[in-house]
Amino acid sequence: MARVSGKKALITGGAQGLGACFGRMLAAEGAKVALTDINLKGAEETAAAINADHPGAAFAFPHDVTKKDDWVRVLAEASEAMDGISVLINNAGIGTFANIETETYEGWRRTQEIDVDSIFIGTQLAMPYLKDNQPASIINISSAAGLIADGMMLAYNTAKSAVRMMSKSIALHCARSGYDIRCNSVHPVFTRTPIIDPLIGLGGGGKTGEEKLVRQIPMKRLGEPEDVGYCILYLASDESRFVTAAEFKIDGGITAQ
Ligand SMILES: NC(=O)c1ccc[n+]([C@@H]2O[C@H](COP(=O)([O-])OP(=O)(O)OC[C@H]3O[C@@H](n4cnc5c(N)ncnc54)[C@H](O)[C@@H]3O)[C@@H](O)[C@H]2O)c1
Repeated sequence: MARVSGKKALITGGAQGLGACFGRMLAAEGAKVALTDINLKGAEETAAAINADHPGAAFAFPHDVTKKDDWVRVLAEASEAMDGISVLINNAGIGTFANIETETYEGWRRTQEIDVDSIFIGTQLAMPYLKDNQPASIINISSAAGLIADGMMLAYNTAKSAVRMMSKSIALHCARSGYDIRCNSVHPVFTRTPIIDPLIGLGGGGKTGEEKLVRQIPMKRLGEPEDVGYCILYLASDESRFVTAAEFKIDGGITAQ
């Protein structure tokens, strides 16, 4: 029996990077996946690649997670395509790199809108679908930056720590309401996807920039998307059926220092 057989997962930001990897790994273990993204072409290409190996497993939808109307449409379409939604992976996000003196109000607002507000809007609208498809799992992608701070990550630190606490509040509400809907946050460190390119650039670019990031990580390497994907597989599956309001650090040890 595959690990997530029968699960129906909606993954935001599914066109590339972590979201695409989650889609591939969940489909390989028997789930249906709805990949949503503002980059529809990317989501369609990822879905096509998944379907080449697992016919009929993946679907793609255009979706701006900051827009309530988009959520209403995408939830209905994804539920129709997969015959329900039992896993919601709030993964879409942006990284913004500025400090208290250089961050703009627009940059600050945009980061909160995409990285935090979208999870409130989307999870609230997804609740009826998840309640209809119990046992269900909500997985919110926070960051190691939700646990430890950096002077150049003002807006991102703030957003990702909010995601951590929002996840616990959602989890407690669901548990106390008697729903079999779990909610957990995941905290990756620098992981090899396009989102870290600006950070590599800040460190001088190329190998030098990458080495500067790696130096901060006790295990002395960047994360690979699959390192996070194995945690997502566990949280999407019933193997984690007693796990809620927890935070999973996929961080090579960085937050222990
Ligand atoms: N890669 C890392 O080092 C790392 C570390 C910690 C946390 N994260 C988090 O993981 C998540 C995924 O990041 P990634 O590394 O795959 O980055 P990425 O930039 O490769 O992918 C992010 C995806 O989100 C999509 N997106 C952006 N804004 C959107 C919007 N308004 N609506 C819908 N989709 C939107 C993008 O089009 C893109 O496909 C993010 O929440 C990020 O903060 C990443």
